[in-house]
Amino acid sequence: MITLRGVGHVYSDETPWAHRALTGVDLDIGERERLLVVGKNGSGKSTLAWVLAGLIAPSEGTATIDGSPLADARGTVAISFQHARLQLFRPTVGEDVRFGLPLSRDAADVALRTVGLDPEVFRDRRIDELSGGEQRRVALAGMVVRMPRLVVFDEPFAGLDGPSKRLLINVIATLPSATIVVSHDYEDAGRFADRVLELHDGALVRDAGTL
Ligand SMILES: Nc1ncnc2c1ncn2[C@@H]1O[C@H](COP(=O)(O)OP(=O)(O)O)[C@@H](O)[C@H]1O
Ligand SMILES: [Mg+2]
Repeated sequence: MITLRGVGHVYSDETPWAHRALTGVDLDIGERERLLVVGKNGSGKSTLAWVLAGLIAPSEGTATIDGSPLADARGTVAISFQHARLQLFRPTVGEDVRFGLPLSRDAADVALRTVGLDPEVFRDRRIDELSGGEQRRVALAGMVVRMPRLVVFDEPFAGLDGPSKRLLINVIATLPSATIVVSHDYEDAGRFADRVLELHDGALVRDAGTL
């Protein structure tokens, strides 16, 4: 499904501030695969996440989905940021999930159930009354209704307490799309990942079934 070949990325290329963030990444991601990406701060995890989400066209190599550049395929890959509030646009949960789509209330309710939120309880709640973990799941429901082929999570557990984190892991583990979680906090990785990648200085140094 997704193929990266020789992907490298240099920020501010051809300026005095040029900074290499990725080098020679070869990667294949199949339908419904569940990947975890680990690595130290600055190892290139977020840059890889942005390339996969089509938000950055890499400066070297090719990044494609079914042969088309990921950068031209926005919407087929969704990305979930740590600051979910920035991805929520409407005052209430139900309105936010349907935002920009000709969707019935029922379809939005299905998406809310997929992320573990009871529609009867949450549909009319105001976004600003929700906890951080609930906001993250509402943002995710807004992605799920668009049926992305891959959902990319960049540090999804940052700032969540234990119970909210476990809830989110369970939700990620049952999403119908392929998923890739970028996290330096991977103690519970075994619960959702069937493949673990490790980045070091922008290069893939490990691609294995487990840590
Ligand atoms: N917009 C940017 N401009 C210049 N350098 C950047 C930019 N974003 C990230 N970098 C640098 O690229 C490297 C990889 O960053 P990043 O992908 O954010 O790593 P990680 O998510 O693993 O911490 C780091 O050295 C970082 O400082
Ligand atoms: Mg990062």
